[in-house]
Amino acid sequence: MEYRYMGRTGLQLSVLSFGSWVTFHKQIEDHKADELMGMAYDAGVNFFDNAEAYAGGESELMMGRVLKNKQWDRATYVLSSKVFFGLQGKNNKPNQHGLGRKHIVEACHAAIGRMQTDYLDLYFCHRPDPNVPIEEVVWTMHNLILQGKILYWGTSQWSGAEIMEAHRVAQQYGLIGPVMEQPQYNMFERFKVEQDYLPVYRNVGLGTTIWSPLAAGFLTGKYLEGMPEGSRLAIEGFDWLKNRWMQEDKISKLKKLVALADELGVSMASLAIAWTIANPHVTTAILGATKPQQLTENLKGLEVVKMLNPEIMGWIEEILQNKPHLDLA
Ligand SMILES: NC(=O)c1ccc[n+]([C@@H]2O[C@H](COP(=O)([O-])OP(=O)(O)OC[C@H]3O[C@@H](n4cnc5c(N)ncnc54)[C@H](OP(=O)(O)O)[C@@H]3O)[C@@H](O)[C@H]2O)c1
Repeated sequence: MEYRYMGRTGLQLSVLSFGSWVTFHKQIEDHKADELMGMAYDAGVNFFDNAEAYAGGESELMMGRVLKNKQWDRATYVLSSKVFFGLQGKNNKPNQHGLGRKHIVEACHAAIGRMQTDYLDLYFCHRPDPNVPIEEVVWTMHNLILQGKILYWGTSQWSGAEIMEAHRVAQQYGLIGPVMEQPQYNMFERFKVEQDYLPVYRNVGLGTTIWSPLAAGFLTGKYLEGMPEGSRLAIEGFDWLKNRWMQEDKISKLKKLVALADELGVSMASLAIAWTIANPHVTTAILGATKPQQLTENLKGLEVVKMLNPEIMGWIEEILQNKPHLDLA
């Protein structure tokens, strides 16, 4: 396993990590979660990702039970949660969601309780909240750090400008600013990581904990042959996700990528993951898996990344034709 410092912090994360969205509680039960987290940990994974909103708190409860059972030394792994969406979706009352101080603090206490831990290593604002002054968010996160309830705070799916605004406030009041972001990043979703955050990396530093490196499984190539039963894009209520990925142009590029992976003698999944972590701005790519074989396959990304020389990266770029470029005109 390779470990990378998270932006300009002193925290090292395994370049591949493990998350629970959709899978924990909805698709898998405790014994499978225990097996998958055990496999990941044994392979050197030291970061486990979660959020208040995942399965309405059930995902954190499940991870908490697994961790309690595992009895791993708390110093050997990094645990996260995220705040914003609340637990009850459309039934959230005012102050049960968003980034107001009341919800951030209450959600933090609740996540710590559900995961049966004393503190969260990473705490993310799961989305920006235009209704709350950024001063309130930065002060609240700063205070949670001083209280020892969280160690680092960051954002998820914020724009580069929003992150810089949080830093402006932090600098103004001498507070601790956001140090990591959790963006989506994969072969078909590149703008934030490759363009929007460039000034953030340069001016204040930013670790990135990437979600959906496989575009929810689409980039494994398995949907080219139909809809495997039980797989994520086939789950009822996930049409929005299916529609995001199952598009003509993406399917035709994916077919070419699968042919390239075949030529290289690697799986499409491991190639897509390797491509993601080949970007030095990536601290860690969070893997999701419902089956041990998937995790074994995806961990091979660690070997495949060593094959990705400029020539092969060039071939991939020729297929993708979606590299963001700065318009300096
Ligand atoms: N901050 C955010 O807004 C945000 C959003 C989304 C996710 N996340 C985090 O990022 C983590 C990873 O995201 P993700 O789960 O979307 O990652 P992903 O790697 O894009 O998709 C993972 C899913 O793809 C399928 N899959 C994985 N490996 C496979 C393989 N080798 N062969 C066939 N199918 C395979 C599995 O689903 P099936 O078996 O069901 O097909 C698996 O659950 C989440 O757990 C969560 O912690 C954060």
